[in-house]
Amino acid sequence: MKEISMLINTADKRSHINPEIYGHFSEHLGRCIYNGMYVGENSEIPNINGVRKDVIEAFKEIKMPVLRWPGGCFADEYHWKDGIGEKTQRKKMINTNWGGVTEDNSFGTNEFFDLCEEIGCEPYLAGNLGSGTVQELSEWIEYITFDGVSPMADLRRKNGREKPWKLKYLGIGNENWGCGGSMRPEYYCDEYRRYQSFCKNFSGNELYKIACGPNSNDYNWTDVVMSNLGEWHTKAISLHYYTVPTGDWNKKGSATEFSDEEYYETISKTLYMDELIKRHSEIMSRRDPEGKIGLIVDEWGCWYDVEEGTNPGFLYQQNTMRDAIVAACNLNIFNNHSDKVVMANLAQAVNVLQALILTEGEKMVKTPTYHVFDLFKTHQGGELCYSYANNCQAGGKIPMISQSASVKDGVLTVTIANCSIDDDAHICCDIAGENYQNIECRILDNEVRDYNDFDNCDKVAPKEYSAKMTEKGFEIDLPKCSVVVVTMR
Ligand code: AHR
Repeated sequence: MKEISMLINTADKRSHINPEIYGHFSEHLGRCIYNGMYVGENSEIPNINGVRKDVIEAFKEIKMPVLRWPGGCFADEYHWKDGIGEKTQRKKMINTNWGGVTEDNSFGTNEFFDLCEEIGCEPYLAGNLGSGTVQELSEWIEYITFDGVSPMADLRRKNGREKPWKLKYLGIGNENWGCGGSMRPEYYCDEYRRYQSFCKNFSGNELYKIACGPNSNDYNWTDVVMSNLGEWHTKAISLHYYTVPTGDWNKKGSATEFSDEEYYETISKTLYMDELIKRHSEIMSRRDPEGKIGLIVDEWGCWYDVEEGTNPGFLYQQNTMRDAIVAACNLNIFNNHSDKVVMANLAQAVNVLQALILTEGEKMVKTPTYHVFDLFKTHQGGELCYSYANNCQAGGKIPMISQSASVKDGVLTVTIANCSIDDDAHICCDIAGENYQNIECRILDNEVRDYNDFDNCDKVAPKEYSAKMTEKGFEIDLPKCSVVVVTMR
């Protein structure tokens, strides 16, 4: 048992935790949309407008604040007009990025916006700058948001939607340094400026325009983008960083079979997110000293080799307690950088990469990662407060404890992960600031290789847990490989 002391100062409020930090991502990739969340209106699986009811309920339960769509790489080859109107008449296309399968466009703009309304989350569109046109993107905004008489608003009405939807988050391109056009940052900036000029604010709708930011540690991309795009037409730039355990994209490692060493390497790679955010933020602050432009980590998560026997283009992987620790570390990092990180989107929501949910026929499984989002949800909209852990090392390479704390409506939420798979921890936490009368805890506590599958869907699930209130704060025993939420009132 390792002794760790912790300090939280609730009087030292640092920044607002945007609910959008707990955001998600759904791409036309593998079984994320089709045969995943979307089963079609005629399916025997209970659904609302073709989207599985159990999935919608699960999304609501974790208070999903925002959902990004339609990609990913798919976004820069997506032509939205192919995905509206009578379904049997919709154009079919090849999904060239993901398995070369036929995309029948049966899930399109109306279906996506209706789904967001059903979940109660903000839609986040990734526009096509790579292979689309300025007119196409401009008309998409008109179709979605214009209330008056116009060709696109009339088309929307013809397709059964009288009133416009609200659209705030608009990404102008995706990974334009790679699958979105292999552009140089200078060229992307010029294109961005042109595209964004024709994305108008209609009928009281206000767009929050997001520029394509760097791949991982491409600091030059950030510098060029920040020096060419002013805050008057850019609210945020995006960052993509995936945790690949081996660091080798050709042999990424298995989702379920890994050595202890590979586990520690995975967590060490995931903690690199902290350095990335710090270094990109420094560059951003040099170009934008008032800090008006935010950072959005709109793709993050673990990327392993696909499960045996599945289509390599579908990126289907299992999800163990290792992923739960990864999720907890990243969410704590985002909370702790919420002065800069205004949104983050896990890749991806269903059946793809570090998924929240896995489906097979009518069955659905919530992954360990899902449960971490559930444990952390009371951070949404809270005020981050100062926290410090007198940490020790685990596995010879990572800090044992990852933590963050926030206050909302007088309730203190503290989330802690014990990242060690060798040692339990005893945490003694002093709290300066408020006095609390009541403490509640929930824990996710399993073996590191444990996961949920369709025969045993609750092997990894949160349980009630106990902590002791002390004169100065609380004390808690954290088993190795566990994630806990402590709530104090
Ligand atoms: O999430 C899978 C893919 O990863 C996305 O399509 C792309 O943006 C990134 O490279």
